Amino acid sequence: MQDWLEGRVAVITGASAGIGEAIARDFARRGGRLVINARRENRLNEIAQDLGPDRVAVVAGDAGDDGTIERLFSTARERFDEEPDLIVVNAGRGLNGSVTTSDTAEWEEMIRVNLLGAAKLMRAAAHHLLADIENSGVSWQQEARDIVVLGSTVGRHVSPFSSMYGSTKFAVNSLAEALRREIGPKGVRVSLIEPGFVRSEFQGVAGYAEDWFAEVVDRIGPVLTPEDCAEIISFIVSRPPAVHLSDALIRPTRQDYP
Ligand SMILES: NC(=O)c1ccc[n+]([C@@H]2O[C@H](COP(=O)([O-])OP(=O)(O)OC[C@H]3O[C@@H](n4cnc5c(N)ncnc54)[C@H](OP(=O)(O)O)[C@@H]3O)[C@@H](O)[C@H]2O)c1
Repeated sequence: MQDWLEGRVAVITGASAGIGEAIARDFARRGGRLVINARRENRLNEIAQDLGPDRVAVVAGDAGDDGTIERLFSTARERFDEEPDLIVVNAGRGLNGSVTTSDTAEWEEMIRVNLLGAAKLMRAAAHHLLADIENSGVSWQQEARDIVVLGSTVGRHVSPFSSMYGSTKFAVNSLAEALRREIGPKGVRVSLIEPGFVRSEFQGVAGYAEDWFAEVVDRIGPVLTPEDCAEIISFIVSRPPAVHLSDALIRPTRQDYP
């Protein structure tokens, strides 16, 4: 059976750890070529070395910056002599607390990365993929083109306990579906992935108390691994071009809420 992932050129933001790193490893294992991004260049270089520098290009920088976003596409062209056909909008961070309890000093940074950065990359990806359909002579039926966006279960079900973070993921949820409605008819698949609890660096960055997270794991665990999410994303993007699994809500089996 044809593996529709083989030979594709993917851009993945937030690929130095967690879900993004797991996606990079899974795509590479299945024959994809990659442009990986995050702020920690050393970590990206280690991953590239591990996966094979001939198939992985590194773009270090803040995924919310216009210059970084432009470099993701120019690097793909320079390194692989092709437009990327699979863009994973993954870079993001959590924030412990609600509207009343979260640290306001963190709000702007989180919104800049989770919402504005994601929206800018979705826009750039849409422009590039539509231009490629128009100019490459390779139709959407011959070659799949994907934008994969990381939302969250708290971007679909309101959680009063992480409401500022949840608000960024509600926004991303609506943007992804709106973009799907806009460019799906032109042959670009926009898929929204909404994980529940995944053990990664996310909990530390968000500032979750260790004993609180340990209690969550006790109650609903085992929680997901980044590899669990990557496997499902690979499944989605390796469907034939005329088949689109557009939304995936992935929970640990015992996670009742959110
Ligand atoms: N873990 C969960 O429970 C969970 C649940 C639902 C949704 N999600 C979402 O899934 C995505 C990945 O989360 P994760 O669990 O893999 O978290 P993670 O382990 O903390 O990884 C986050 C990645 O994003 C990168 N990153 C953060 N800010 C960035 C920026 N401004 N520019 C470029 N890269 C940046 C980090 O690398 P650097 O620090 O090197 O930049 C890292 O590679 C996020 O969008 C998150 O909201 C996570």
